[in-house]
Amino acid sequence: MSNKFKKDKVRIGVLGLGVVGSGTVALLNRNRSEIEQKIGLPFEIARIAVRDVNKKRAVEVPRNLLTSDPSEIVGDPTIDVVCELIGGVEPARTYVMHALQSGKQIVTANKEMIAKVGSGLMEEAARRSLDLQFEGSVAGGIPIIQPMKNALAGNSVQEVTGIINGTTNYILTRMTRERADLDAVLTEAQQLGYAEADPTSDVDGYDAQYKIAILASIAFTSRVNVNDVYVEGIRTIGAADISYADELGYTIKLLGKGKRLPDGRIQVRVHPTLIPKAHPLAATNDVYNAVHIVGDSVGDVMFYGRGAGSGPTGSAVVGDIIDVCRNLKFGSTGRVSCTCFQHREVQPIDEVVTRHYIRMVVQDRPRVLAAIAGAFGDHNINIEAMIQKTIHGQQTDIVWLMHEAPGKAIRDALAVIRQQPVVVEVSNWIRVEE
Ligand SMILES: NC(=O)c1ccc[n+]([C@@H]2O[C@H](COP(=O)([O-])OP(=O)(O)OC[C@H]3O[C@@H](n4cnc5c(N)ncnc54)[C@H](OP(=O)(O)O)[C@@H]3O)[C@@H](O)[C@H]2O)c1
Repeated sequence: MSNKFKKDKVRIGVLGLGVVGSGTVALLNRNRSEIEQKIGLPFEIARIAVRDVNKKRAVEVPRNLLTSDPSEIVGDPTIDVVCELIGGVEPARTYVMHALQSGKQIVTANKEMIAKVGSGLMEEAARRSLDLQFEGSVAGGIPIIQPMKNALAGNSVQEVTGIINGTTNYILTRMTRERADLDAVLTEAQQLGYAEADPTSDVDGYDAQYKIAILASIAFTSRVNVNDVYVEGIRTIGAADISYADELGYTIKLLGKGKRLPDGRIQVRVHPTLIPKAHPLAATNDVYNAVHIVGDSVGDVMFYGRGAGSGPTGSAVVGDIIDVCRNLKFGSTGRVSCTCFQHREVQPIDEVVTRHYIRMVVQDRPRVLAAIAGAFGDHNINIEAMIQKTIHGQQTDIVWLMHEAPGKAIRDALAVIRQQPVVVEVSNWIRVEE
């Protein structure tokens, strides 16, 4: 077989030597000889850009490899592959664009950049027949992007559903096991390093929003604008919801979900969800992630593993580096480019039909239940199950499990119910999936 790569080794430049950068460099060094045999070429880590060259690193690297100026890497004509592991949209996007314009192959784990501004970068890569790979950007160590673009490519994907944020899964798992409230578990998760000091991106669902936008774009061959993805985090989930869900046979998970609709549109959404305890995703606990795909030919496929961390994400990044180097060797870079060749509209969340869980506190008086049930009935919402428990003195918790209804019907019914003097509060409304 002919080697189209005319140099004696592939030169790799790395931007960022934090959690993922360290895992990537450590893995490349540890398994170098096997990796080089798999590629069929030697490689060299030529340069690494960081913010602070004097900082202590989790991996040992020769001091002379470090630079605080990423343009020394992206503008270096001898570097073949740039691995972007800085994170965020800027300046990462500018460096990646510069690297593409200098003819370099790109590997990144940057979900925010890919979800928000990936299309411009992918167009540039396609124009120049370059690789732009981003396996590490979704679900850390779980291979999901390459399988969707390759092994599953023959399928029309009907659904992609994932637990794709380890921090919130860890928090919900602890809340479920201990019947604890979110704040207590979050504080401990921060102390253990499972949650950031500023947990907004995880707890409010934005991290999962970027990831499901990427997965749905590939699954439905249509670029999903991240702003079209409905997002609701886990802040409203209380120990009471976990207990009532359990009593009804469900567990609560933060799901990212994409679904193909018969009218050509798609659903793409992130929100806490009640799923039956027997659902394949219900057993995904702690910091683990899982992605469940339904293809028209393959049926159900499930991917499970560690969704973050130095080793797992390094594994995904190195897998991409190997793929890119093989393509360099055979002169086949840019072979699998952006697959978003269609435009599908995202269904507004108010139109999305699911089942629903609603918890409210009411005054413990006669005919209260009938009044509330009447308001649901007026909006064509059928009740499937109900739990009523006196909580303190004159007040009662009522939990309703509803048959399928569009989000708007529930929203409108709850607006009416909130006006009733016997209703103390509507405490929570969570969607339910089978
Ligand atoms: N952490 C995970 O488990 C995980 C999982 C999947 C995907 N990702 C993604 O991987 C990427 C990296 O995440 P991370 O957790 O490794 O981040 P991190 O630990 O904060 O590391 C970021 C690295 O980038 C360097 N850096 C930041 N700004 C720079 C600049 N302007 N110029 C040069 N270097 C710069 C930092 O340098 P200093 O070290 O000198 O500050 C640091 O080494 C992100 O896109 C993230 O979303 C992370």
